[in-house]
Amino acid sequence: MDNLQEYLDRLDMTRMPRHVAIIMDGNGRWAKQRGRDRSEGHAEGVTSVHRAVEFSSDMGIGYLTLYAFSTENWNRPQTEVDALMHLIGWAIERELPELLENNVRIRLIGDIDRIPEEARRKLLNSQSATAHCTGLTLGMCLSYSSRWEITEAARILARKVKECDIDPENITESVFADHLNTAGMPDPDLLIRTGGEERISNFLLWQIAYSELYFTDVLWPEFDKIEYAKALLDFQKRERRFGKTSEQVAKADDSKVGN
Ligand code: IPE
Ligand code: IPE
Ligand code: MG
Repeated sequence: MDNLQEYLDRLDMTRMPRHVAIIMDGNGRWAKQRGRDRSEGHAEGVTSVHRAVEFSSDMGIGYLTLYAFSTENWNRPQTEVDALMHLIGWAIERELPELLENNVRIRLIGDIDRIPEEARRKLLNSQSATAHCTGLTLGMCLSYSSRWEITEAARILARKVKECDIDPENITESVFADHLNTAGMPDPDLLIRTGGEERISNFLLWQIAYSELYFTDVLWPEFDKIEYAKALLDFQKRERRFGKTSEQVAKADDSKVGN
């Protein structure tokens, strides 16, 4: 089976994840396999981002969150970091008209102040220009790490306690989540990692507490709509129990059907 339509026919449009998060890994290896520079792998990765955004919108997915650059990625060779930052700024500027046309809202997640000025300006501009959009929310994690985000939330809450804005007894899980960069977004239902590694690399540690994890060897530049559809099909086969028994889940589903 290698035709996209055959996969689409098997997908249940009523059981799509509300939020998909993706660790886009494997650009460097994709380039190396072809004897090309790593930066060419990143450039090819932009095409994959475009496809994933389009497919998410078509599938009626509400939120797509992409891990584009981690806090740890600042430690890569300066030439690669510079090329990536330039690419990110260039790509977001180029994609903006189509994002607007497709009603996609950009949400920046991470320590955006660390991004070099030119790329940062283009990113912030795309975020404000799409603020009114009501279709897919596209979370772009840049200069992001989950431990950084959680530490920031703790710091903000500590300040509020110090200033008597909040009583420590009132810091619930939901209040804590409201102080993360992802405040207001539902937790990811499905987390995909391309590139063959089976690790989380400091991504959304709090938010993926109950996400379904999907790992594929496919390198990010080769992650096409068929590969995305395969991940969605795999997700739809799983039973999400959230600590309950299979029988309890089946019963709850029956009562939903009866409604
Ligand atoms: C992922 O691809 C993109 C970023 C981390 C920016 P990599 O650049 O990590 O590709 P590999 O893992 O070296 O193949
Ligand atoms: C994770 O990829 C970060 C992004 C995809 C942006 P890495 O390639 O940096 O992850 P590790 O270092 O191999 O875990
Ligand atoms: Mg990698």
